Amino acid sequence: MHIAVLNESSAGEPRVSATPETVKKFIALGATVTVQKGAGLLSGILDADFVAAGAAIAKSAKDTLFRAGIVLKVRRPTGSELSQIPAGAAVVATMDPYGNEEAVDAMGMAKLVCFAMELMPRITRAQVMDVLSSQANLAGYRAVVDGAAEYGRALPMMMTAAGTVPAARIFVMGVGVAGLQAIATARRLGAIVTATDVRPATKEQVESLGAKFLAVEDEEFKQAQTAGGYAKEMSKEYKAKQADLVASHIAKQDIVITTALIPGRPAPKLISKPMVESMRPGSVIIDLAVERGGNCELAQPGTTVTTANDVKIVGNLNVAGRLAATASSLYARNLFAFVETLIDKERKALAINWDDELVKATCLTRDGAVVHPNFQQKAQGL
Ligand code: NAI
Repeated sequence: MHIAVLNESSAGEPRVSATPETVKKFIALGATVTVQKGAGLLSGILDADFVAAGAAIAKSAKDTLFRAGIVLKVRRPTGSELSQIPAGAAVVATMDPYGNEEAVDAMGMAKLVCFAMELMPRITRAQVMDVLSSQANLAGYRAVVDGAAEYGRALPMMMTAAGTVPAARIFVMGVGVAGLQAIATARRLGAIVTATDVRPATKEQVESLGAKFLAVEDEEFKQAQTAGGYAKEMSKEYKAKQADLVASHIAKQDIVITTALIPGRPAPKLISKPMVESMRPGSVIIDLAVERGGNCELAQPGTTVTTANDVKIVGNLNVAGRLAATASSLYARNLFAFVETLIDKERKALAINWDDELVKATCLTRDGAVVHPNFQQKAQGL
């Protein structure tokens, strides 16, 4: 059983899919591991660290993939990697399959068994494999750190001989995994924190972190959470009421962190241009939803926009990757926890249980075809 760990840095991705810790664990399961040269460098892991853990280092993707039965990645394989992965190998990565049906089709045609980690069900058994949570947690933390760095004032209230500095006001929009961590981090830094969401369950969570909850709590709000725990797209009427409430609040905020997402839909637009114009000079907006279209109308992916009234709107991409060493260590553990379930420990071989609900939920391609129901028809152009 041979495991290949590819280098992602050519795609501008600083994270890596294995760490010395997980390499040791794979070897203890009877695997051999080859890591592509330099794969861990941007996450602070030297080739020598991987070697000390028992891995071999290969110079090229082709050499790394030689006889690989399991391939670990952060992002889905590139075209050239696809042509080099041995047919029948299991590839485990975040595949970003929605809207990328052609890429899913190509993985099927390459005769690979591809698993999309972001489709992992959010059930108790799979919590340890939940890459969305592990990475969103770090993104929420980093959003506050980035906001504090861009903001030209202190966050906590400070009483000094020269007078008192007031605490900054931070508003968190969207209280999922990233939002909760943003609230906790902002509180630790001493800010006065408010937060909003459309799911009623979040009210208590916000308050338990010492922040104040602000939302339009009407009948629609009471029904806004799906059985899966996610938000629904809200009606035009609700959005208008929410915008009124947010407009007066936002004008008084120093830092706004937006994390609102709806599965399979563009990010809801929560901050309009007039709202940005109402903010004080020096205020900062960190838009974590920018990769899905942004929660702020003026956010631009991968850049910081400074408006005429001197409000900075930060649209950093891959925010978890801004903490690459921590993000890689959590991601690698998520992957190990899943891949371990694909291995027969007696025979020390890949033995996928196709009836396992985790396999069914995450497997995109198998035996030369797209097998996941969400992508099958689209890939075949039906
Ligand atoms: P997400 O990333 O899909 O969305 C972020 C937040 O944006 C959500 O809280 C959502 O309600 C909110 N939102 C959507 N539209 C909005 C709007 N118009 N205005 C304001 N807020 C809006 O969410 P995430 O972080 O993936 O969490 C989703 C759910 O899954 C949560 O209930 C979370 O607690 C749950 N979860 C469960 C896990 C488990 O293992 N049981 C693990 C991780 C999350």
